[in-house]
Amino acid sequence: MAKPLLEVKNLKKFFTFQRGLVKRKTFYLRAVDDVTFDLEREKTLGVVGESGCGKTTLGKTIVGLYPPDSGSITLNPNGNPINTLNPNDEELKIIRKTVQMVFQDPQSSLNPRWPVRNIVGEPLEILKLVSGRKEKESKVIELLETVGLKPEHINRYPHEFSGGQRQRIGIARALASQPDLMVLDEPTSAVDVSVQAQVLNLLKDLQKEKKMAYLFISHDLGVVHHMADEIAVQYLGQIVEYGDSEKVFNNPMHPYTKALLSALPVADPEFEAHKKRIILTGTLPNAISPPPGCRFHTRCKELVDEKKCKSECPALKEVEKNHKVACWIYDR
Ligand SMILES: Nc1ncnc2c1ncn2[C@@H]1O[C@H](COP(=O)(O)OP(=O)(O)OP(=O)(O)O)[C@@H](O)[C@H]1O
Ligand SMILES: [Mg+2]
Repeated sequence: MAKPLLEVKNLKKFFTFQRGLVKRKTFYLRAVDDVTFDLEREKTLGVVGESGCGKTTLGKTIVGLYPPDSGSITLNPNGNPINTLNPNDEELKIIRKTVQMVFQDPQSSLNPRWPVRNIVGEPLEILKLVSGRKEKESKVIELLETVGLKPEHINRYPHEFSGGQRQRIGIARALASQPDLMVLDEPTSAVDVSVQAQVLNLLKDLQKEKKMAYLFISHDLGVVHHMADEIAVQYLGQIVEYGDSEKVFNNPMHPYTKALLSALPVADPEFEAHKKRIILTGTLPNAISPPPGCRFHTRCKELVDEKKCKSECPALKEVEKNHKVACWIYDR
């Protein structure tokens, strides 16, 4: 069987802080803490979780913007696995072509002093995908049209666009290198609902046409349900539930996933009326000193074995085919 396009194993990314006036002490913020998953070609893995749980950090580490502290990230773009942690020059070029990211906030991720021509054209030039000005120009125009923008937009600057259009520019730039994998970080959080559907449908069409895999990051479960084949639920830097999208949505197992899903509106009014809402109490604990044991125990309403839940961290275990959960309820 062909290897998955992306293999992430035991990935950790900590941020360090110095605190204290007299005695400087180092603290670690565990933004991504022992994350393992695979992503197949042409599939979408949705990553969900509350603000601050480490979704963006995971995405940025995978595309190489942050060096990980430990673990491995392996890409298999063409039969030869590339460990992205210490690639040689040739491999680095392949990685840059293979993986691209569309950022959460298009306002701050696009250079405001550059016209669209440069923003979308830069990767074409760096990766030497075009020769000469003419070819670059026509390729940029082709990319703009692919994402539903117009050729005359080529000379405009980011501030002259709407939020949805800016997100399209980000997508066009990411598409320039014809990536196999796109990390999409909340690609529609900065736009209103009507535009959201357009951008999501564009992404779906592009995925089919260009045969790309997506790591789709969002805290909006409805959007993720629409987009993803598989789902990873992240809590304080760790994946607590992971599996086929339908399985996770129809049969959520982790108390955290159940709470997240119970807040989702359902189309069937009768079901909606009888649905039990699980209110998440308390705030997300600080990732600098996460609770011992299961990290969710401070907010969990289903503690099975209080002593164990508070002292031992459950591992992610397969409870049914393609459905894994990290919870002591299922691991006794
Ligand atoms: N460059 C950085 N330096 C230090 N800490 C950071 C940095 N980036 C993120 N963090 C911290 O790491 C944790 C995870 O942040 P991250 O941005 O990955 O969360 P997120 O899940 O993407 O949140 P959101 O849904 O709000 O975008 C947070 O506690 C955040 O404060
Ligand atoms: Mg984020």
